[in-house]
Order: sequence, then C-alpha cells, then structure tokens
Amino acid sequence: MFLYSIAFSDTLLPVSMLRISGSEVAESFRPPAPSPPEERLRLFKLLATLKQNPLECWSAEFFRKPIAKVRLPFTDAFLVHDPASIKRVLVDNADNYRKDPIQRRILATGLADGLLSVEGKRWEVQRRTLAPLFARRTVTAFAEAMLTAADTLAERWRRLGPQANVDVAAEMRLITLNVLSLTIFSDGIRVGYDEFRTAMDAYFAVIGRFGALDLLGAPKFVPRPGRRRLRRTMVYFEGVIDEIIETRRRRLASLPDGERADDLLTLLLCARDPSTGRSMSFAEVRSNILTFLSAGHETTANTLAWSFFLLSQSPRWRARVQEEAERELKGLADGLADRLVVTKAVIEETLRLYPPIAALSRMADKADALGSVEIKPRSLIVVAPYVLHRHQLLWDRPDVFDPSRFMPEARSAVPRFAYLPFGIGPRICIGASFALQEATIVLAALVQRFDTELLPEAKVWPLQKITLRPAFGLPMRVRPRENA
Ligand code: HEM
Repeated sequence: MFLYSIAFSDTLLPVSMLRISGSEVAESFRPPAPSPPEERLRLFKLLATLKQNPLECWSAEFFRKPIAKVRLPFTDAFLVHDPASIKRVLVDNADNYRKDPIQRRILATGLADGLLSVEGKRWEVQRRTLAPLFARRTVTAFAEAMLTAADTLAERWRRLGPQANVDVAAEMRLITLNVLSLTIFSDGIRVGYDEFRTAMDAYFAVIGRFGALDLLGAPKFVPRPGRRRLRRTMVYFEGVIDEIIETRRRRLASLPDGERADDLLTLLLCARDPSTGRSMSFAEVRSNILTFLSAGHETTANTLAWSFFLLSQSPRWRARVQEEAERELKGLADGLADRLVVTKAVIEETLRLYPPIAALSRMADKADALGSVEIKPRSLIVVAPYVLHRHQLLWDRPDVFDPSRFMPEARSAVPRFAYLPFGIGPRICIGASFALQEATIVLAALVQRFDTELLPEAKVWPLQKITLRPAFGLPMRVRPRENA
C-alpha cells in the first residue's frame, strides 16, 4: 500500500514510477496513474509533456470541473466532462462537431477512405454498409476463432516450460493480431505471418510518432518529421493487403456461396449499401481492412495487458475469474462471453481505468452553447475518457480498481455518459462488441490455464501513445496451472 501511496502523491517524472511487487493488495488497490498537478502546465512544459506522455498533462481541476477552457496557440479548446454536454456534442448535435483536422491528419495515411476517417455522406454510406459485419450474430460466430487464438498462445506458453518470463503486453499484441487475421483473412495471409507482422509494426511505429504540433492544431503546411518514412512503409504494406484482397476477389468469383470463407474480408467484398445496392470500391475495401487492423489491434491488446496487470494485483478477482472460467469454458462457444460475467466486469473496469483511446476530439462547425458555455466556430472540443472515467463528480473512489461496479446488479447505476471507452453517438466504435467479446474470452481462457505473476522488478506506468499502453511492457512470470 505504502508504495502505491508514494507513486500517487509523487511528481510526474519517471523517477516516480511505480515498482510493484507481486504481493496481495486489498480492495483499495489504486493502479498506477499520474498524480495530476494542481496548476495547469505552462506552454513549454505542456509541449514537452504532450510529446512525452499526453496523459500527464491533465491537471487536477480537469478531474473536478464539468467543462474547462484552455487557450492553445492555434485555437481554443474546451475539455468537456459533463454528461449533458457530452451528449450534446457526441449525440444530439453531433452534425455540428466533426472529427477535427488533428485526428484527420493523424489518420491521413492508408486509412483515409476507411470508416474511422470519412465524414458526411461517405461516412453514412460506409456505416450502413459495414453494420452487418459487426452485427451480434456475426460477432458471436467469431467466438470460435477467439478461442482458437487463445489455444495457440496457450500452446506456445506451455512449450516455454513449467515457468517462463514473458512480456504479456507483447504477447497480447500477438494474440489480437492473430484474432484479426483469423476473422479477417480466415484462409491465411499469403506473405507469411512474420513478414506481415513486421510490416504492420513498422506502420504503427511511424503512425504513432505524431507530435505536439499535431496535438496543438498547427496548420498543415508546418512540416512534420517522419511523414515521408510513413509513406514508404504504407506503400509496402498496402501492396501486401492489395494482393490478399485481389486473390480473395478472384476466388470469390469462382466459388459457389456455400464454399466461401466466412470472414470479414468476404463480408466486406460482398457488402452492399442497403439503400442503393452499391458495393465498396477497392480503395474503400483496402482502407477498411487497414482500419480494422489498426483500430482493433492495439486497443484490444492493451485492454488485455492491463487486465492481466490488474488481476496480478488483486488475488480475489483473479480467483473469481479463474473459478468462472473453469465452469463456463466447459460449455458451448455460443453465448460464452455472455456467461463470463465476472470476467467481463474485470474487462469493463480495466477499460474504465485505462481506456485505450484516452481522448476523443471534435471541432465545432457553427456556434453552439454547452450549458452556459459559449462555443465559437472552430473551437476544439476534447472529451477524454481517461479523465471522465476518473472524474470526482461522477465516480465513487474513482482511482480504485473495483470490478463490482460492472457486475450485473450494479451495472445499471453507471451513468451512460460517464463511461465511454468506445465513444458514443453515431461514431461509436463499430467493433465494440467484437472487442468486448474477444477480451473477455481470451482473458478467461488464459487465466484458466496459467498463473501469471508480475516480476518483482517490473515498472508499470501508463503511456498514451495513440493507445494507452504499459510504458515498459508487462514482464510477468507465467506458469501452467495444474489440471488446466
Ligand atoms: C478495446 C478495444 C477498442 C476500443 C477501446 C475502441 C475504441 C473506439 C473509440 C473510442 C471510437 C470512437 C472514436 C471517436 O468517436 O472519435 C472507435 C471507433 C471505431 N472503432 Fe474501435 N475500439 C476498439 C476496438 C475496435 C475493433 C476490434 C474494431 C474493428 C475490428 C474497431 C473499429 C473501429 C472503427 C471502424 C471505428 C470508427 C467508427 C465510425 O467512425 O463510424 N474498434 N473505437
């Protein structure tokens, strides 16, 4: 406990990072998080911190105030953490608050024609065309693929011997990529898995290197380092994806319906706009494949990594997940995620404390008002799930890990606009139920088979770099459980 208190009240510098032992921690476990400074950061410090770890920019007032205004060099920003105002921005008046140029610049790579990036009419058409890909029935059918990916990883861990040290954060990136390849390209990736992964990692590494200039809304003409390298990486990776799509397109044309691979790529190639019957262009198919890979990979991997960490510090919840997994994994894959209620509560609490998308942003088109706060055109609106989920006006003991908030008897008390790991409104995450199902099934399947313990020397600290990840990975000792 003492160690946690130190970390919580200390400065934001790396020296304050937490060294966590694998020891038992009571119900009041406060997972590591920056201790918000009382004063707002001054411009230079803000710039440096934005570059290093944007999570550490949030000062204490943002966790207390419903709305706060911040003057940035290029625009005014409103940090909105009041449920009624969030509803206005993201739902009721969503047409007035489009994704801002900052986000679009970050996404202005191969994702430009995909659902995450497009706006207006193009977005409407894509969203209704893609909706069946993530309908409940389709997602439920992917439970088998998720279990298969968990089996593959379990087999690998077992081969490491009676105990082995692994970086669970890296292992979770492997498994979520495997789930995506099994559900998007169920008949395999022609170029070999390692080559595909290397190309994809290179892409994510460069895309993750957007800087303070982007975050501060600097105009487009200000040169950004790394953009040219990103282009080269993209050309290669797009080539790989194009070949996969082309091969599948040819196969689909020659196969009868019943023999088609039942995966997201088939669904994407066969998808039609219900209003016009129009199918997607090649560029849209490619962009959406890249979108699913980028939006669904690290987000879910980090959710899983953080949940392993949180369980390693909470033997009581780990025992409950193990007990539930032993019971429920004996049953059918169909409906499995719905039966894993304790595991799902742990995942939801993980998403509260460490939301993979820590902040959402929009830009006001026309003038508007959020309560008594006047919003001018071109104002930047930031809704940060990280702040919202730890807001003092909205949560009881916001910094404490307590999955019981999400158990069925308590779940309905969580206010809808106080908990937004997947966003809300028309642009809500299309893959939310896919991700929740995947994280729940994979966590249960691995916790049932292995005991995982944080290494004593592990440093655990949240770093916001596109997604919210453990800054130094998650070194854990993994031991197969007896009779599992
Ligand atoms: C734990 C995992 C995930 C988290 C926390 C997450 C979070 C989010 C959030 C917050 C948004 C809304 C962004 C905004 O409003 O600006 C979003 C959008 C989106 N997500 Fe996810 N996501 C996850 C997994 C996935 C998966 C598995 C997929 C697909 C395979 C996916 C595909 C998308 C797409 C396509 C959008 C854009 C939707 C639109 O604009 O209509 N996500 N996600």
